[in-house]
Amino acid sequence: MKRHLLSAADLDRDDALLVLDTATELATVSSRAVRKLPTLRGRTVVNLFFEDSTRTRISFEAAAKRLSADVINFTAKGSSLSKGESLKDTALTLEAMGADAVVVRHGASGAPYRLANAGWISGSVVNAGDGTHEHPTQALLDAYTMRRHLSEGRGDLADRRVTIVGDVLHSRVARSNVLLLATLGAEVTLVAPPTLLPVGVEDWPCEISYELDPALAKADAVMMLRVQAERMNAAFFPSAREYSRRYGLDAHRMALLPDHAIVMHPGPMNRGMEIAADVADSVRSVIVEQVSNGVNVRMAVLYLLLGGAQLPTGEEVAA
Ligand code: NCD
Repeated sequence: MKRHLLSAADLDRDDALLVLDTATELATVSSRAVRKLPTLRGRTVVNLFFEDSTRTRISFEAAAKRLSADVINFTAKGSSLSKGESLKDTALTLEAMGADAVVVRHGASGAPYRLANAGWISGSVVNAGDGTHEHPTQALLDAYTMRRHLSEGRGDLADRRVTIVGDVLHSRVARSNVLLLATLGAEVTLVAPPTLLPVGVEDWPCEISYELDPALAKADAVMMLRVQAERMNAAFFPSAREYSRRYGLDAHRMALLPDHAIVMHPGPMNRGMEIAADVADSVRSVIVEQVSNGVNVRMAVLYLLLGGAQLPTGEEVAA
């Protein structure tokens, strides 16, 4: 593993499988009465969030705490960031406090790269979402969830078919997923209106379609993306109704999926827009499970970056 996790492309197949296998080992901790391991005792993890987040920030916090690390939560609101402090000065402050890992979410694509590569800090940087660019731990928790349901929790995702639907243009989740799923051997189809596909998407390792129905019949997993209204400064589709009629997943469309297929969403959902409420709450939906898997996967990432570079031994997990 590299020192930082900035992009899903930082992980080759062996690295990605190591994270997933480590998460599987560590998951046993999450299901115990006392959910704690001493592994990262005395280490400090800083959550540096410049953008709003519920599940990702809480998930990293829970992950670090289950490994006994000290956690410092640093959100833009209520800190000197709202007084205009620069990323560099913030980084120097974190370094002075001895941060071993900085988990960063930022509205600007590339901010975690600057943090990792400018030489301001000596710890590991984990990208928890940068602009419309990448969100590698989301891709890892999605792959982990798919592997549990589609590959008996083992190995890669060779030949599994994944359909990712919606606002690809603004989605860091889509980009990271396409990269990681390709590394793990899955076949990915992106489905979106042409206005919600980024420039250069034809070079991504996946298929592109503008029609949802044909892509559902062959999918093992379908991942619905949130329509990111806060990043839209123009009209990308005629109306919300029109969007959900063509690209929303309702019960009728869900019936086109093969019986074993799962329905995913990274959250937060716009119920009634990209996904109907009854679909989100259906037995095929693994959306809540994605959240709990997220903690195990983030434990694995912190464990591998800060602790051992290999799978935990039975003794470590039993500690
Ligand atoms: C995503 C994000 O923030 O990139 N959410 C998440 O991390 N679970 C997707 C989104 O906001 O739509």
